[in-house]
Amino acid sequence: MSGAARLAGKAAVITGGAAGIGAAIARRFVEEGAQVLIADIDDANGETLARGLGANACYRHCDVSQVGQLNSAFAECESRFGRLNVLINNAAMQSTHDFEQTTELEWERIVAINLKAVFFGTREAIAFMRRAGGGAIVNTSSTFALVGSPGYAAYHATKGGVDSVTRAAAVALIKDRIRVNSVCPGTTMTPGLVSSVRATAADYDAAMASYAALQPMRRFAEPAEIANAYVYLASDEASFVTGERLVVDGGYTVV
Ligand SMILES: NC(=O)c1ccc[n+]([C@@H]2O[C@H](COP(=O)([O-])OP(=O)(O)OC[C@H]3O[C@@H](n4cnc5c(N)ncnc54)[C@H](O)[C@@H]3O)[C@@H](O)[C@H]2O)c1
Repeated sequence: MSGAARLAGKAAVITGGAAGIGAAIARRFVEEGAQVLIADIDDANGETLARGLGANACYRHCDVSQVGQLNSAFAECESRFGRLNVLINNAAMQSTHDFEQTTELEWERIVAINLKAVFFGTREAIAFMRRAGGGAIVNTSSTFALVGSPGYAAYHATKGGVDSVTRAAAVALIKDRIRVNSVCPGTTMTPGLVSSVRATAADYDAAMASYAALQPMRRFAEPAEIANAYVYLASDEASFVTGERLVVDGGYTVV
């Protein structure tokens, strides 16, 4: 740990924390003095990561589309670490279909994981955070909340919803001393990115090279570069920041 621990005294639940951006958030949070509960459906990776992070981390199986499982994860965080004062609503699934290919079933599944879980995760966290004297919620949105693209129709819709829920919750929860913000990552090198490109592109290497060429920095983000934004928003350094959307995209949406 270098310098003062920026998240000392914080106990966080990180959904989708077993891989990719969520795993990087878990690592950075523990480095900064937080205690973390990794909530995911990938038990093998989640348990391995938690073990590697030591006594300040634990893993719990939690399908975020099930509100009761979110509540149980929060209760476990409280009983294990004494409080829940940070929630990272990060788990999501990708859909690579355009409007005409998107089925109702796919819509219902992606809305349950990417949007309903953010809404009800927030709802369920309120009572825990009140008991902790307040808290911070950081939701994972996307640059796809800000721009359109030919595919990913339902995914775009859910991420726009995440930003809207963020603003609504931020205003509603000021009275409870709970800040609510979102992070919009640009394209980030994660298992999720690799599998969505593999699912859609005939030539994986060519597709990755052409996506990288679209980036102003000619490269994708590393998960830790995204995770740093969560450290700030979850910490007391951001004590006057709520309802905000922090875009971390290497300039993608501003060029
Ligand atoms: N990678 C990118 O380029 C990128 C860009 C913008 C936004 N995002 C967002 O960042 C977040 C993380 O993305 P990633 O690329 O790290 O994804 P990833 O697929 O690499 O990891 C996602 C994690 O979420 C877990 N998960 C999936 N469904 C779940 C469920 N129902 N309940 C609990 N856990 C579940 C998976 O098991 C996995 O551990 C997502 O919200 C994603 O939409 C990613």
